Amino acid sequence: MRLDKYLAEMSYGTRNEVKKIIRSGDVTVNGVQTLKPETRVDELSDIVYIRNERVSYSQFVYYMLNKPAGCVSATKDNIHKTVIDLLKDNMGNNTRDDIFPAGRLDIDVEGLVLLTNDGALAHMLLSPHRHVDKAYYIVADGIITEDGIKKLAEGIDIGDDALTLPAQAENIKLCRFGELSRHIQGVIKNKNDENLLQITEDRVYTSMELVIHEGRYHQVKRMIEAAGSKVLYLKRMRMGTLLLDETLLPGECRELSVEEVHQLENISS
Ligand code: URA
Repeated sequence: MRLDKYLAEMSYGTRNEVKKIIRSGDVTVNGVQTLKPETRVDELSDIVYIRNERVSYSQFVYYMLNKPAGCVSATKDNIHKTVIDLLKDNMGNNTRDDIFPAGRLDIDVEGLVLLTNDGALAHMLLSPHRHVDKAYYIVADGIITEDGIKKLAEGIDIGDDALTLPAQAENIKLCRFGELSRHIQGVIKNKNDENLLQITEDRVYTSMELVIHEGRYHQVKRMIEAAGSKVLYLKRMRMGTLLLDETLLPGECRELSVEEVHQLENISS
């Protein structure tokens, strides 16, 4: 890889900034001063110093994104903003070009998306055999009956060959429209504007956290529908050990700490 690309990816500055650092004579490759940004380096075997600091190559990167609605869990899209566009908005254009979302959320779903270039970790987290749990915050229309909750807990028929694995519904609450957060009220109002439902002041909603252990297509929406209701708002709060950092506003992301990466590696090993 080019020396300037390598240093930019290792967060020593933008491509232009690292070019200046290289041209100023502050960079050595295998002990030899290197003034040309286009010099090729082998990031695994070459020894690169900036002034007195050894540049250590980290092969993998991990970010958590608080995905907003309207953005797609893809690397490229001709119409919608992607999770990778948001990563670049946050981190600048120096982010590596091999990063992808480890698991998808629907376009209207918010919350935790792990962005990484670590294919093995992503594969382990998403493997249907490992049953890594994912926790969602749900606001559903109307009241989900006790029978519906029981079915969610036992495994529910969502039209696939097999029932879903048992899921844990916690913190189940009934609330009126005015008791929901402004953000969630806005989301529901939009659905109302699309004539998908009728909001009345006395309408009751069910909010809950649901922990599932699979990653089937539209799984939570289909489970809630099979339980007799409809998801109006959905946000992923956790994947395995990784909790959404609640200080991240929708659209914001941050790097995972070393501890967070280790914890993920441990659940998937
Ligand atoms: N379940 C869904 O229905 N959609 C998602 O995006 C994630 C889980």
